[in-house]
Amino acid sequence: MNTHKIIKNTFMYLSLFALSCLVSCGDKKAEVNNTSEEIATTEFLKGKKLYEQNCVQCHRNDGKGMGALYPPIAGSDYLASNVDKIICSIKYGSNEEIVVNGKTYKMPMPPSMNNLNDVEISDVMNYILNSWGNKVGPIKLEEVKTALSNCNN
Ligand code: HEC
Repeated sequence: MNTHKIIKNTFMYLSLFALSCLVSCGDKKAEVNNTSEEIATTEFLKGKKLYEQNCVQCHRNDGKGMGALYPPIAGSDYLASNVDKIICSIKYGSNEEIVVNGKTYKMPMPPSMNNLNDVEISDVMNYILNSWGNKVGPIKLEEVKTALSNCNN
């Protein structure tokens, strides 16, 4: 192989790597970078798993919800100002009419199937508050506990 060919091949491999990284590394980074640095990655990933076990049926993997039935969490204008209420809904369910991004949702949300404990609710909250472009920021376990002690149930 002459030098010219080696340089050409090296360049080709480097661009291939860069290209595949643009596709796959970018995704992974976006997901983790989305979380505030104050949320440990392990907690965030635990929250993601809990979301997949308890919430995807209605709110879907992409957080976009299901048409007129289940509201989107991704890009929800309801989220940031109703954090305490949502914590209570995860624990006890909710049967209120709510408006999310201008649309009214009337279906009830059941209590989490696996009866999530305080730590699990905190993990799943950190996941939804900081995924799919949501940037509400981290929530502390203490804040979740306080919200839970103030639910009207
Ligand atoms: C059986 C379907 C169903 C499941 C499962 C479910 N939800 Fe909901 N969720 C709803 C409905 C319906 C509403 C709107 C009515 C209400 O809040 O009373 C809602 C409202 C919400 C809201 C506030 C509105 C918004 O979109 O910003 C959030 C946040 C939310 N759910 C998160 C979760 C999380 C987290 C889980 C899992 C722990 C979960 N939900 C499980 C149906 C569901």
